[in-house]
Amino acid sequence: MEPGRRKAFFAGEVETSVIYCGDCLNKLQKLPDGCIDLIYIDPPFNSNRNYELFWGDTRERRAFEDRFGDAEHYINWMRPCLIQLYRTMKATSSFYYHCDWHASHYVKVLLDLLMGFDNFLSEIVWCYRERGIAKRWWNRKHDTIFAYAKKLGKHTFNYREAMESYSDDYLKKFKYVDEKGRYMIRGKGVKGSPVYKADGLAPDAELKYPGLTYRQYLNSGILPLDWWIIPLLNKAASERLGYPTQKPLILLEKIISASSNSNDIVLDAFCGCGTTLVAAHKLGRRWIGMDISPTACRVMAKRLKETCNLKEGRDFIVRDMPKTIEELLKYPPFEFQNWAINALGGVPSARKVADYGIDGYLYPSDVEISKKEGENLFGQIDRRFPVQVKQHPAGRPDIDKFETAMRRDRRDKGFFVAISYSDQALREIERVQREECLTIIPFTVQQIIDEETKSEGGM
Ligand SMILES: C[S@@+](CC[C@H](N)C(=O)[O-])C[C@H]1O[C@@H](n2cnc3c(N)ncnc32)[C@H](O)[C@@H]1O
Repeated sequence: MEPGRRKAFFAGEVETSVIYCGDCLNKLQKLPDGCIDLIYIDPPFNSNRNYELFWGDTRERRAFEDRFGDAEHYINWMRPCLIQLYRTMKATSSFYYHCDWHASHYVKVLLDLLMGFDNFLSEIVWCYRERGIAKRWWNRKHDTIFAYAKKLGKHTFNYREAMESYSDDYLKKFKYVDEKGRYMIRGKGVKGSPVYKADGLAPDAELKYPGLTYRQYLNSGILPLDWWIIPLLNKAASERLGYPTQKPLILLEKIISASSNSNDIVLDAFCGCGTTLVAAHKLGRRWIGMDISPTACRVMAKRLKETCNLKEGRDFIVRDMPKTIEELLKYPPFEFQNWAINALGGVPSARKVADYGIDGYLYPSDVEISKKEGENLFGQIDRRFPVQVKQHPAGRPDIDKFETAMRRDRRDKGFFVAISYSDQALREIERVQREECLTIIPFTVQQIIDEETKSEGGM
């Protein structure tokens, strides 16, 4: 079977290469006992409402901070998820919980109780230097990752995989080889003796004071330590998707390669933009992802397609995306906008507050690159259609505002999505088409749902 291909699974077996959209507590309850080899989670601190933060800017960020619940609330929210996660672990599996100073002390106590103090493996400190500067306290530049085994001693730990490689400069010092391997010559440091010279040293048997030297053999790698220095993703990082809480791929690769084996099943129940899934795929592991946010599920599906060359429907599947208007209406406005624009094949605007009446754009695929007379410098490359999304029935004022936004953006065609349209709204759409050659194509949410259901049926 080609790596990454979805495997047929049988009754009693767990389905892999699947992203579940929804609250992980509900999804986890459906997984059988003891089916997972490795779990990594990176849950938000403020209960399950963090998803409103995606792509957000100041207003949403402020709302997020205001809502920081107390620790008790957080712990009460996490406890049932942890109980479910623990249940799904195999006897050989390990569990990694990623958090930071907000909650790490509470989390450790909770994990000791639920996973067992005796099954504690490591408190990994992930250090970095990037981002803001504090001048009134020690800068907070680390995250904490707690690792537990389901059963200490039985758990998978690939020591050699966990070792880090030496630097080239260090390797250069091991110039000699014998039947036991590569070595460098070290002196015992006896005062006045010429025993240790780093360069151009002869094998110790030929040295003037052979007894004062010894051979230091090259180990397979650097001792695996519980503190890791890995830079945060900066704006220029090629893997960066603009997702606020995205973790570096290398961090997940380190965890997965040390604590699982090829073809094992890796689960991330809060998987954001899918870093764990991509790392697991790259390392030849099977995987299951979960996230409550449909936007996150779409982002990770796109990432798996683009970076792992996987095909949705054939190589992996996204399950339980919202399907009814009632479900969609429960989402925060920006989640709803993202859903609608993604479903139309467009790109949501990064700016969600003060978007000046445009929530995203559709980019037609039939663009001609050559410049025609009357077109601007970029010819048709600049061709894109604005989209406006309303989570309520659209009235005449909504259409008026969109017309203004289209004119300001110098577009003569745009798309509108709403639950329904009033008669005045529809009459205005006809009028601007007839009198001002401004084309507004109105979609209802039900039409989009019907289209999505049709295309999924044909997968
Ligand atoms: C800190 S982010 C994870 C980031 C991820 N490690 C990455 O590298 O992209 C936390 C994620 O948990 C999700 N989440 C919050 N509550 C959830 C719940 N009850 N069930 C599943 N996912 C949830 C959020 O939507 C968010 O994407």
